[in-house]
Amino acid sequence: MIYPVVWQNNSVCLIDQTRLPNEYAVVEINSSQEMARAIKTMIVRGAPAIGVAAGYGMYLGAREIETSDRQEFLYHLDKVAELLGSTRPTAVNLFWAINRMLKTAQNTPGTVEDIKQVLWQTAQAINNEDLQTCQAMGDHGLKVLPKSPAKLTLLTHCNAGALATAGYGTALGVVRSAWREGRLERLYADETRPRLQGAKLTAWECVQEGIPVTVITDNMAAHCMQRGLIHAVVVGADRIAANGDTANKIGTYSLAIVAKAHNIPFFVAAPFSTIDLALSDGSQIPIEERNPEEIYQVGDTILTPSGVEFYNPAFDVTPAELITAIITEKGAFPPGELGGV
Ligand code: MRU
Repeated sequence: MIYPVVWQNNSVCLIDQTRLPNEYAVVEINSSQEMARAIKTMIVRGAPAIGVAAGYGMYLGAREIETSDRQEFLYHLDKVAELLGSTRPTAVNLFWAINRMLKTAQNTPGTVEDIKQVLWQTAQAINNEDLQTCQAMGDHGLKVLPKSPAKLTLLTHCNAGALATAGYGTALGVVRSAWREGRLERLYADETRPRLQGAKLTAWECVQEGIPVTVITDNMAAHCMQRGLIHAVVVGADRIAANGDTANKIGTYSLAIVAKAHNIPFFVAAPFSTIDLALSDGSQIPIEERNPEEIYQVGDTILTPSGVEFYNPAFDVTPAELITAIITEKGAFPPGELGGV
């Protein structure tokens, strides 16, 4: 099993996702500053994994605060929350975890040392709960996948696997469960320009577990569907609005459109910590814009002539009407019904 965020010897060990698949390296994180940098630079990435990392980041920040005065401690903990919250804007699990840690601190009676102890337990709980949540999602996903053919070919986008969660994965968790139950023929993985999470991370995870995987470039998905190669699409999510509109890695929206055009079911797998009921629809979801270098440079090679401009949104929003069902730890729901669950 792959665990991207592990508490070990009083520090957090992160699998460095910027180096995979060529190098498996673990980075040791000892402070909230280091955790903020790791999230920002995508050493750890994927909505639930960012939430787990932020939980530990809050504890590391709490550990650094040297006061026995409760109010002063809570004031400084707010600053840690601000630092971690400024790293990436779209994945709501980041803010969900930070707020859970802040509320825990505010509601815990006793000394500052007592609060720190409870914060550590809460960070551990966020990690453990996410793992169980992903396994439950895998089981619920199995129930809604097409019944025929007996062995399915699924398509996914970006990485929504163990690396993007506490372990097991959201969309890739459904794929793992299908593989375990003998219902998976093969996974097609979009390479996912510009950061190539599909080609680098999803493919790596599949190879680790012997899941047959075919990597395609993003612009090949429609062709594969037209040729009858894909039975269903399963993707993860970074933030889901109350009406079911779903932000996920850039390219997800076009995938949903082509799936609809070919009458292929399109599933989103995400835990409730990814659902933001405060937002009525997807137009309110903040979309991260990243460095244009991600588009024009591969290694040391510059791909484009000088003098052109770039636009590099990291996520897009898939309207709820293009989504067949949202698979959560509580079951699979039509997107419009999430608010009532
Ligand atoms: O920019 P990233 O790599 O953090 O984006 C990751 C994704 O968009 C994932 O598909 C999403 O977080 C689902 S994770 C289970």
